[in-house]
Amino acid sequence: MEATKKGNSELGKILGYSLFIMLAFVGFAKFGIPLVIPELPPVEEKITGAMTQDQMVAMGDKIFHGKGTCTLCHSPVGGRAPLLDGVATRAPERIKDPRYKGKAKTGEEYIRESMKEPSTYVVAGFGKPGTNDTVSPMPQIDKGAIGLNDVEINAVIAYFQKSSGLPVTVPLPTGAAAAPAAGGAEAAAPKPAATAEEAFNKYGCVTCHKVPGIAEGGDMGPDLTKLASAAGSRKPGMSGEMYIIESISTPNAYVVKGFDPDIMPGDFAEKVTMSEMNLIVKALLGKK
Ligand code: HEC
Ligand code: HEC
Repeated sequence: MEATKKGNSELGKILGYSLFIMLAFVGFAKFGIPLVIPELPPVEEKITGAMTQDQMVAMGDKIFHGKGTCTLCHSPVGGRAPLLDGVATRAPERIKDPRYKGKAKTGEEYIRESMKEPSTYVVAGFGKPGTNDTVSPMPQIDKGAIGLNDVEINAVIAYFQKSSGLPVTVPLPTGAAAAPAAGGAEAAAPKPAATAEEAFNKYGCVTCHKVPGIAEGGDMGPDLTKLASAAGSRKPGMSGEMYIIESISTPNAYVVKGFDPDIMPGDFAEKVTMSEMNLIVKALLGKK
């Protein structure tokens, strides 16, 4: 019963999207069809001056659940990465593991190192396939699309420490040190994406995929810069356009060879707006 309902509403969404795209291609989009799919909640916090410890923890919470894109992988669904509840408690134990090759001396340093150089220590069973847990599939979160600065990284560490009931040991930013973080926060303010590149960043697609128009991209999912030629032949009788919409709305409907199901989040249909879906599909089909 439940499953059927869900199936129907997903199908409805796919049909909705494809209808919208057909209209958009014949030029109706400029008349402004209302968007019915809700926007993501605001994920950013501005830093204007010195911060209290509680503000630092709250900022880390927001980054972890928003801009950091951490929960794309670190979530109970899919088992694509270890859950981070209690990571601050287990961090000092990680350093003592014979497989540990890093430089951290404290739990705080271990967490920072895990974020900046994920392959220094790869949690058993979570390495890239075929690397025997020596290479992490986690992107460097201070680089590329995520690009957290030092203050933001410290805020995430503060959040982990606080949620584990441990003392917060990271330095609090003063006015001057906090300033760059405020700039970063503004740059990523959430609003409907106006270009495909913006949409790929907004939803964290670049964390897992190489996508058209963006140099750096992850490799937890297939390279989407080559999809234009393949999309139309993935499923017999399904156009490339429909296939892409389905892949984004219901990732497990077709699992690309060499990849596992359940890795790609299944809730984009509820988050991506019609106009954003239109931009994404066009970009992946190589249309301008
Ligand atoms: C594309 C998927 C992905 C994203 C996005 C991601 N991670 Fe990870 N992360 C992993 C995987 C897989 C592992 C386990 C392998 C390893 O140890 O590197 C991991 C490991 C970790 C660890 C070490 C956990 C432990 O038990 O020792 C920390 C800490 C961590 N991630 C923090 C973060 C934070 C904070 C973010 C967001 C800013 C983030 N990750 C984003 C996939 C991801
Ligand atoms: C946490 C990692 C992750 C994120 C985030 C993610 N994907 Fe994926 N995606 C995958 C994996 C793994 C596959 C291959 C397995 C499958 O087919 O479901 C995939 C498959 C796809 C495919 C099918 C590709 C093909 O070659 O047939 C498309 C299209 C796609 N993703 C688009 C997107 C878009 C657009 C976004 C952002 C809105 C996104 N993905 C976000 C991991 C991810």
